[in-house]
Amino acid sequence: MSSTATPESIFQLGFGFWGSKTLLSAVELGLFTELAKAPLGADELARRLGLHKRGALDFFDSLVALGMLKREGGKYSNTPETDLYLDRAKPSYVGGILDMCNARLYGFWGSLTEALRTGQPQNEAKQGGNLFDALSSDPKRLRQFMEAMSGVSLPAANAMAAKFPWRNYKTVIDVGCAQGAVPVALALAHPHLTGGGFDIPAVRPVFEEYVARHKLQDRLRFHVGSFFTDPLPEADVLVMGHILHDWDLAEKRMLLKKAHAALPRGGALIVYDALIDVERSRNAFGLLMSLNMLIETRGGFDYTGADCVGWMKEAGFREARVEHLLGPDSMAIAIK
Ligand SMILES: C[S@@+](CC[C@H](N)C(=O)[O-])C[C@H]1O[C@@H](n2cnc3c(N)ncnc32)[C@H](O)[C@@H]1O
Repeated sequence: MSSTATPESIFQLGFGFWGSKTLLSAVELGLFTELAKAPLGADELARRLGLHKRGALDFFDSLVALGMLKREGGKYSNTPETDLYLDRAKPSYVGGILDMCNARLYGFWGSLTEALRTGQPQNEAKQGGNLFDALSSDPKRLRQFMEAMSGVSLPAANAMAAKFPWRNYKTVIDVGCAQGAVPVALALAHPHLTGGGFDIPAVRPVFEEYVARHKLQDRLRFHVGSFFTDPLPEADVLVMGHILHDWDLAEKRMLLKKAHAALPRGGALIVYDALIDVERSRNAFGLLMSLNMLIETRGGFDYTGADCVGWMKEAGFREARVEHLLGPDSMAIAIK
């Protein structure tokens, strides 16, 4: 054994859930939203969040040590990042995904070992069916899930708005659109674009409310359907974000074929996910997302950009390429 080896990185990862849950509880309590209004001392912050005094100081100071808060002259304030992304009052809020991690995934991941042994989902679909059917019958959970999708997709959506040649296309439909964060980001960035989203019936009110909030109801409309039983709506560009990874290989291939059939000649399909690197050794988020699909779905898994390009060509697309978006996310672009 090398004399310089220490167990530090092992412990840091092993105890990672302490820091993770501290952040998730802070988001749940609305701590960053409160501090976005004004810096506060510990007693006043604890009072506003309804916290017992025993843990409050350790909780706040842990968040300072974890780089999520600043403390100056005895007053706590947000960092530039937590102020921009974790204040619920700002349109840049991405905490929806953390709300869902807190309310759903944190508990479900406690059964990871069981999932690894059985290959079975550990969420609402543990007793049968699929996650989306289970969510459809629970409007509160459905809304929370759809808001979570906006949190996880907004950075990728903004990068996609900047990196794809939208001037060459007029219409776009996001397939499995959830709240509509992607079409809204694209429509805000490119005033000539029209289109909307396609999803199951239960999602309609959540989409329409979000689109109306951005005053885009004249340009973006909801298309009801199931991509298992219906053809996809026609548009110059179809987007599939976090869709292929929900399903097994045969279902992935079927979805790509349906997209090919719905596009005009020269039309484009953009698939984005946390595409895993070809060596399957660097994009830890993409690999862990694939384990998350083990927890959440019956047959879903994440994949490399090369896998996706191969499936796109099999589905009949004449060319396909991969472009990095932001952080762990990349898009595979296929042209019919
Ligand atoms: C993981 S979410 C991804 C949402 C969004 N594309 C994003 O990345 O933010 C999967 C989406 O697929 C939708 N979906 C599931 N089954 C579907 C089906 N059979 N037909 C159409 N949409 C479906 C869900 O309702 C959900 O909005």
